[in-house]
Amino acid sequence: MPKPLRKAVMPVAGLGTRFLPATKTVAKELLPVVDRPLIQYAVDEARAAGIEQFCFVTGRGKTAIVEQFDLAFELEATLRERGKEKELAELQAQALPPGSVLTTRQQVPMGLGHAIWCARHFIGDEPFAILLPDDLMMCDVSCTKQLADAYLETGGNVVAIEEVPMERVSKYGVLDIAEDKGRLVSVKGLVEKPRPEVAPSNLTIIGRYVLMPEVIGHLAKHEKGAGGEIQLTDGMAKLIGSQPFHGLRYEGRRFDCGDKLGFLEAQLAFALQRPELAEGVRAFLPNYR
Ligand code: G1P
Repeated sequence: MPKPLRKAVMPVAGLGTRFLPATKTVAKELLPVVDRPLIQYAVDEARAAGIEQFCFVTGRGKTAIVEQFDLAFELEATLRERGKEKELAELQAQALPPGSVLTTRQQVPMGLGHAIWCARHFIGDEPFAILLPDDLMMCDVSCTKQLADAYLETGGNVVAIEEVPMERVSKYGVLDIAEDKGRLVSVKGLVEKPRPEVAPSNLTIIGRYVLMPEVIGHLAKHEKGAGGEIQLTDGMAKLIGSQPFHGLRYEGRRFDCGDKLGFLEAQLAFALQRPELAEGVRAFLPNYR
């Protein structure tokens, strides 16, 4: 029986240079899509998968991320006084239970693998999910829940994957496929940001993972990979052979909110999902063609 999945790590130490000047004082994870910060979507997605414990890997200037999940006593009192019950209920639903949020610091940006290693004491000897909040998911069933189910099915590591045109593989971690069974793909190797000429496939990892704690032992070696950084992909690759490792073609859509165009598309797509906004958006859109 696989151990239950209860923990999630969310790396949020990145500088957000692509969104300067907005991110000079506001963490990129707090930039809103419609009216919710990116980090809120990730936390909600994780909760929908049964995650109970959260670890934010933070850095300088990121403390407001933790505030987002705290009780806002004065604000709540004011809303109550003014009879704003709907807003109050929404805020209260977002606060995470006492003791369920931890933070650890990544003092120097040494790569995603290093960020995850910084959460090693939180992870302990349990399986854990990773959510990169830049990747915003629009799925009927929480993407992390889809991975959690695949973890129970396979008893090992599972990463969410999607196909991209070959010329774009160099932005991602890429799968070397052992067997493509459709929904699940068993993996015999992983390469971080390969050039298209040498990429083993065009199946790429998006920012959702369920991993076994043994990955930490590999990340602890602090070996540098692509871009001179300690890469999560390299640490994961070392698990292959000793543990099951699969890619999951998740059902849903991903928006790359680390990129301006992706972020703008997400605004539109999420607004169009909202009954109170969809009509208005459709009405103004033709003005911009
Ligand atoms: C990271 C990972 C990469 C993965 C991607 C998904 O890259 O290193 O393997 O495919 O996230 O968004 P980054 O976007 O941080 O360069």
